[in-house]
Amino acid sequence: MHSFTELAALFEARFTSTLPFPDSPANLYEPCRYLLALGGKRVRPVLCLMANELFMDISEDAWQGAAGIELFHNFTLIHDDIMDKAPLRRGQATIHERYGLPTGILSGDVMCIYAYDKLAHITHALPQVLQLFNKTAIEVCEGQQLDMDFETRNDVTLDEYIHMITLKTSVLLACALKMGALVGGGLGDNANKLYAFGKNMGLAFQLQDDYLDAYGATDKVGKQTGGDIIANKKTYLLVKALQNASPAQRDEINQLLKDDGPGKIAAMLSLYAATGADVQCREAVAHYSQLAFDCLESVAIPSKRKVHLQELAEWLLMRDK
Ligand code: IPE
Ligand code: IPE
Ligand code: MG
Ligand code: MG
Ligand code: MG
Repeated sequence: MHSFTELAALFEARFTSTLPFPDSPANLYEPCRYLLALGGKRVRPVLCLMANELFMDISEDAWQGAAGIELFHNFTLIHDDIMDKAPLRRGQATIHERYGLPTGILSGDVMCIYAYDKLAHITHALPQVLQLFNKTAIEVCEGQQLDMDFETRNDVTLDEYIHMITLKTSVLLACALKMGALVGGGLGDNANKLYAFGKNMGLAFQLQDDYLDAYGATDKVGKQTGGDIIANKKTYLLVKALQNASPAQRDEINQLLKDDGPGKIAAMLSLYAATGADVQCREAVAHYSQLAFDCLESVAIPSKRKVHLQELAEWLLMRDK
């Protein structure tokens, strides 16, 4: 059994030495290589590999699935950064910022197709894998649309927010785990419990992402601090702040949502603190992490085989990048 650090290193070596992109046209593939060379935590491929290793020695199918999922994730980041007008990703200029919008669209598209090409090499349970993956990819698009729809709404409920992040983020972590189980012959019940584990961990993951967007250090997170505040994203912090706010505080928040001035981020952060939304965001991360741990516990595999998944979920709860 391998730890997160070990699997991330093994994955990195394989992934970067087997990148599928040809040299030409360079203007299409250079941006793909650029983003992938900037790294990333590689959480999703490692989840796929760890789930696979619960059932067998890691198989070739699991490596292909892990690569496909990481390519798909990076494709979503390219298009997400366009939609979010984000200037920074992994500490460097985003693709659309560096190479222009048309390149961002097309390099993202081609990366998504190469993700499918990796999956096409899977030999075990391919129909089930594709069904799972297609369902997930559709859900990610739906979640991303809701995320954008919510930018212009100020009455988003907590349930709507959780539904949105389930779709845009958590189903891909869940999919990665289930895929690793499916190609490893993991039976229905265990594969579904791993999926539920991933879904709750994914919710905690996106809540932490929201938190780091507001409070993280740019040199660690590699993204523009306060980007969500600038874009009026309905993050957990904002939804909670609106929910907790006194009438006067609600007026202040609504005013800030119409404001593009330089003081917007600091003013919003002080309202998050004044309404207790910052503390509640930390509590929500812990809550969904606990639900995730309970799901992992219920997977019918000896506990000692699950320690690395447990450790990974614990690390994600505390992460600062
Ligand atoms: C960022 O994902 C996008 C979200 C779903 C929050 P990661 O935080 O996993 O990004 P990288 O791959 O490590 O850069
Ligand atoms: C991203 O959510 C979800 C997907 C990429 C599908 P965010 O927009 O919060 O991700 P970051 O913060 O830009 O990484
Ligand atoms: Mg974004
Ligand atoms: Mg986004
Ligand atoms: Mg974010």
